[in-house]
Parts: sequence; C-alpha cells; structure tokens
Amino acid sequence: MKPITVNSERSYQVIFTDNLNRDLSALIQGRDVVIVSPKSIVAGYRASFPAEHLLIEVADGEEQKSIQSFGKVSEELAASKLDRNCLIVAVGGGATTDLAGFLAASYLRGVEWLAIPTSLAGMVDAAIGGKTGLNLSAGKNLIGAFHSPSAVLIDQRFLSSLSERDLKSGMAEVAKCGFIDDTQILNLIGENWRDNLSELIYRSIAVKAKVVSDDFKESNLREILNYGHTLGHAIEKHSKYFLRHGEAVALGLRFAAQLSFEFSGLSSHHLDKQNQVLDTLELNAKYPKGSWPELLEIMRSDKKVRGGRLRFVTLSALGVPTRAENITDQQLEKAFLESIGE
Ligand code: GLY
Repeated sequence: MKPITVNSERSYQVIFTDNLNRDLSALIQGRDVVIVSPKSIVAGYRASFPAEHLLIEVADGEEQKSIQSFGKVSEELAASKLDRNCLIVAVGGGATTDLAGFLAASYLRGVEWLAIPTSLAGMVDAAIGGKTGLNLSAGKNLIGAFHSPSAVLIDQRFLSSLSERDLKSGMAEVAKCGFIDDTQILNLIGENWRDNLSELIYRSIAVKAKVVSDDFKESNLREILNYGHTLGHAIEKHSKYFLRHGEAVALGLRFAAQLSFEFSGLSSHHLDKQNQVLDTLELNAKYPKGSWPELLEIMRSDKKVRGGRLRFVTLSALGVPTRAENITDQQLEKAFLESIGE
C-alpha cells in the first residue's frame, strides 16, 4: 500500500509495512532509541528490536495516561541521560502513543518520536495527527500538546493479537470516518468488514490525514473528527473506563445522529443507516438512562466547551458534517432517551 502523507507543523508519512524491523531500522539510523510500550505487548515483539534500545514499560490502558505514570516515565528517561537527538518509539495502543508522544513533546522541550500503533483505534485515529496528552481526574486529555511523530508505521499483523472486543471497539473510529466523510467505508463494512479490513484501515487513515493536513490545530475542520466524542468521552469517563473508547464512542455516535436528525436535517433513512452500521459491528446501543445528569455535567467540563456552551458535530447527511449548538438541556435529554437511554 502506498504511504499516506500528513502535512502539519511538519510533513510525515504513514507507512504500511510487512517488515517492521527493516522499516524501523531505516528510520532509526543509528540514533539512541527509547521504546515506550506496555508490558503486555512487549514480549510479543521485543526480540525483533535491537536489545541495546532502552525500554520503558508502561501500564496497560488509560491508566498509563495519568500524571503519576507520566512522572515515572519522565524520571526513567531523564535517568538515561539521553540527549535531544534521541528518538522515542511508541509501540502500543492509543493510550501509549498519546503518552509517549507527550513525553516526546516535553522531554528536553521536545524530541522526535515514531508511532507504531498496535490497536485498530491507534492505527486509524490516535497515532495519526499529532495530538498527545494525559488524562486528569476532571476529564480525558486535559493536558497535552500538538506534537507530530516523524513517521507512523502500520503493521497490520499486530491486529491478530487483539481480542474480538478491542477489534470491534476500534471499528467505531473506522465507521466514524465513513459517517463524516468517506461513505464508501459504510458499504465496505456492510459487505463484510473483516474481509475488507485492510482497505477500511487505509481509507480511514486517508480521511484523518486529509482533515489533519487541513486544520492541524483544530480551529474548525478538525472538529469533525470529534463526531460522537462529546458524549462518548463522557460515557467513557462515567463508566470509569470499563467501556473501551470505541464502545463509548459508538454510543456517542448514536446520540449525535439523533441530534443530527432533530437539529441538522439528517433524514430518518440516513439515521437508520448509520445505526445499522453500528449494529453490524455489534457495538453498544444502550446506556442507563439514570446516568444522564452526570453525563451532562461531565460533558460541560469537556475541554471543547467554550463559554459553557455545548456544541456538537452533527451531520446534515451521511458524509456531510455540520455543527449544532444552542440545544436546550431538555432537548439533549430527549435525544439521549430516544437514542441510547434505557
Ligand atoms: N481524535 C480526534 C483528533 O485527532 O482530532
């Protein structure tokens, strides 16, 4: 597959590889390397990376994106006394690339990094676009920096070690790319998403690369990548990260489609079509209705809220994103109950 170029504060390539060792060595070129990776996946690939590289092991999942974990990995890196010419290589899911990318943005005021995403959500979303950061108890990704990697290496063989749950959860971000832009993605999911996985990954990365190249710092267009994420992030936090990111986003997507239907002119046919895609992927459809007051409060603390006003990315048709604001709390609650509340 041809590499995809992302243009942001620097231009870099998303490289599709079937020989990770060879392509990684070409990018490293004798530099001091620090691999940041969760214990649970290190064992699977460590033998293929030169042993002299410093390895910093991190926790699994969102736990690694805490201030405490960041402090620990920063101390480990500083103890190695590596200079500004070092290269941080993140090997893991979205939480790992977010953490390691932020480490790269901050260590010695900024060093280069490479992203090697091992989860589907990491490949199509988190590792692309240069958003890096940590969670605070007040919310997800409240501390962070825009700091693009020097390259992203996609080795789809990592996907074979994912659980069914993680694979399906990652598909929520793939479907999102179909809802907001490339509607051919929706047809490919409908035909047989497992057989079409390589093309789905390629097309989703192409959507993300196009959007990020147009609006790296999210002044407007990049917001469309947040379709379904305002409520999705709130549900993820409300569930205490029991739900995977994509599972929570799938709920947020159903809610956002309902808002689209009610406030942005999305037809009932497109509303149903969107929800059928999520059903095909067997992604979550319901969340307890009693949680609404807390979800509303969490949404209000989202970093995307400006002047206390909730603003949502919505669709006027599949593939045509727009925005909806000034929706009253009662209207939001009604949309929640009609879409996912049970
Ligand atoms: N995950 C949304 C973005 O990268 O902007």
